[in-house]
Amino acid sequence: MASSSVRSLFSRAAPKATKEAAKKVSSPPATQTRSLATTADVPTGAGFWDAVKARRTYYNLQNKSSVSDARLEEIVAEALKYGPSAFNIQSTRAVLVLGDKHKQVWDVIYDSHKPNMGDEAAQKAQKEKFDAVYRGGYATICFFEDTVTTDKFLETMPFLKGKFPLWTANTAGIAQYIVWAGLAAEGMGANLQHYSQFHDDNQAAINKFLGVPESWVGTAQMVVGVPSDRGAPGAPEFPKTWNPTSDKLKVVQ
Ligand SMILES: Cc1cc2nc3c(=O)[nH]c(=O)nc-3n(C[C@H](O)[C@H](O)[C@H](O)COP(=O)(O)O)c2cc1C
Repeated sequence: MASSSVRSLFSRAAPKATKEAAKKVSSPPATQTRSLATTADVPTGAGFWDAVKARRTYYNLQNKSSVSDARLEEIVAEALKYGPSAFNIQSTRAVLVLGDKHKQVWDVIYDSHKPNMGDEAAQKAQKEKFDAVYRGGYATICFFEDTVTTDKFLETMPFLKGKFPLWTANTAGIAQYIVWAGLAAEGMGANLQHYSQFHDDNQAAINKFLGVPESWVGTAQMVVGVPSDRGAPGAPEFPKTWNPTSDKLKVVQ
């Protein structure tokens, strides 16, 4: 794909209605230090927990969306804007891949990953999975962490170098989670994949196809779409179980 067709998430001409909505959430100028919303501005009971509970992994995604492409873009943009990052360095990047490009990015990943899939039968099984679970969805959101941004920050605080792999992973996960839960709140399912991390070849192939710099390290590929059966999240043959909260949470007072 020509790099000119990689649209900035913030620069595309949006339909009028979306432009109005975007005005309310548009990025502040770089010099603005106060956030647009504070906890004092936000009403309680805004449905946060409904979204948290609705978010699940869906493998049965259809090539359908419950929201417009402009809204999809806005959800990703909001996550990038409002998600926190270590020292506010804002290192997370995302590419929303739509239409034929969404299908093609999975062809690119399949071709790159194929040598690592095993024998011909295994490759065929993987092809079926790619077609049904990834390619069959509506869109893909590729997430990255920009190492130029991280390295630049580390020049000011080099002693933190050892901490940043974890902190940027946290930052990436938070952005992904906002998108995942935000989409769930609007009727969209998603599954989260990590093919860029399996092999450097996959990472290089994805970045080349999307026309993004090599310094963007892929953190996840999120496939999104309307599930064919909202009651069948995850792998239905392995229903999700929850370990006791008492194993995971300790209250000290
Ligand atoms: C950090 C992380 C990595 C994951 N990687 C994958 C993955 O590579 N492929 C996949 O199908 N699901 C992946 N998942 C989804 C988990 O398997 C899923 O979230 C978990 O089983 C709980 O199910 P739920 O999402 O329906 O609540 C990942 C989730 C997280 C948080």
